[in-house]
Amino acid sequence: MTHTGRHFLQIPGPTNVPDRVLRAMASPVIDHRGPEFAKLAAEVLEGMRPIFQTKGPVFLFPSSGSGAWEAAMVNTLSPGDRVLMFETGQFSQLWRQVADRLGFQVEYVPGNWRRGVAAAEVEARLGGDAQHTIKSVMVVHNETSSGVTSDIAEVRRAMHRTRHSALLMVDAISSLGSIDYRHDEWEVDVTIAGSQKGLMVPPGLSFNAVSEKALTTNKTARMPRSYWDWQEMLKLNRHGFFPYTPAINLIFGLREALLILQEEGLPNVFRRHARHGEATRAAVEAWGLENVCEDPREFSSSLTAVFTPEGHDADRLRKIILENFDMSLGAGLGKLAGRAFRIGHLGSFNDLMLAGTLCGVEMGLRLAGVPHRDGGVAAALDSLAPASAKPEPAPAAR
Ligand SMILES: Cc1ncc(COP(=O)(O)O)c(C=O)c1O
Repeated sequence: MTHTGRHFLQIPGPTNVPDRVLRAMASPVIDHRGPEFAKLAAEVLEGMRPIFQTKGPVFLFPSSGSGAWEAAMVNTLSPGDRVLMFETGQFSQLWRQVADRLGFQVEYVPGNWRRGVAAAEVEARLGGDAQHTIKSVMVVHNETSSGVTSDIAEVRRAMHRTRHSALLMVDAISSLGSIDYRHDEWEVDVTIAGSQKGLMVPPGLSFNAVSEKALTTNKTARMPRSYWDWQEMLKLNRHGFFPYTPAINLIFGLREALLILQEEGLPNVFRRHARHGEATRAAVEAWGLENVCEDPREFSSSLTAVFTPEGHDADRLRKIILENFDMSLGAGLGKLAGRAFRIGHLGSFNDLMLAGTLCGVEMGLRLAGVPHRDGGVAAALDSLAPASAKPEPAPAAR
C-alpha cells in the first residue's frame, strides 16, 4: 500500500525528531579533539544538568540506554554484590537480565506489570537486611511496557526510614524530559537515560547522572570496566573531550534539542505531557477499554498502554492501523504481547498530533472489529478543549 503524507510514529520511543534537530545533525563532522568540539561538549554536558535537575556531573555515552545501565552497575558495584529490583514490567525484566549476566545476586520482587514500585516493600526488604548486604536498589521510573510511573521520592523516603546504605539507581529512560524528574532532590545516586524519547534525539546517546556518593563508591567498586569507566571520562570531560571518538553529530542534535526544551521551559514540557496523558486516558475510558496501569496515581504522562478485549489480538489491531493509516503504535511486550498496545504521547508532540493519533486508533478499532464504544476521540477533544472553556474574544468590528 502506498502512503501519502507523514508517517505517525506513536511508539513510546524512539520519538519524532524535530526538523530543527535533524538539521543540526546534518552538519559537517568536526575534529573531536579540536576547540569547536570542546565547546560543544562543555555546552551539552552543562545543559543536561537542569534536565536531570542536578548540579552533579552527567556522563554521556555513545550507546543506547542499555549501555548506560551497564555503566551504572560496573562503576558502582563489586563482583557478586546483592541488588534489589522490582518487577514492574519488561524493562525491569531486562535490567534484571543485565544484572544477572554481570553476576550480581538479584533479589527481584515480583509484580503484576500493572503497578509501580511499592515503597513499603522497599522498606521491608531493606529493613530486613541488618548487615547492609544489599548494595543497590534499582527501579524503573516510568515503565515503558505498561505506562506505570513509580514514585521515586517515596522510594527514597522509604530507604531513609531504614537508614540503609544502599545506592539508589533509577531508569528514567522514558521519563526524562517528559515527566518531572529530580535527581538531586530525590537523592538518586545514578540516573540512567537515553536520547531517543523525551529528549527528541535519535537513538544512540545515553546518560548517567551521578551523586557524590556514587562517585565515591566508584573509587572502590571492583567490577572490571574499561569503556564505561567514569574516572577516565571525568578526566577528559573536564577539557571537553572523551576517551574515544564521540557521536559528534548526535551531540549536535542534542545541543539543539536542549535549546528547544529550554525555550518551552521544563515546567511547560511536563504540563504538556500531563495534559496529553489525560486526554488519551479520556479516550480510552470512553472507548470502554482497559488501561494497563491500575492505579490512577501512577498513570504515565509519556505513554498509555491499553488492553484489547479478551480474544482480540492487539498486534492485529496495530497491523491494521499501520497498513491503513500509516501509524506505528507500540507493541505489547513480554507478558503483554498480543494483549495490549501502547500509545506514545511524548517528545515533540502537540494537540493536533494527539487528535490524529487517537483518530487512527478509533478508526483501527472499527476496522479490526474490536468491541468498543464510539466517542473516544470526542472525549479526548473535550479534555483538550473543554466546551466550558472561555471562548477567545472575538476581534473588534471594524
Ligand atoms: C524504561 C526503559 N528502560 C530501558 C530501555 C532500554 O533502552 P535501549 O533500548 O535504549 O537500550 C527502554 C527502551 O525503550 C526503556 O523504555
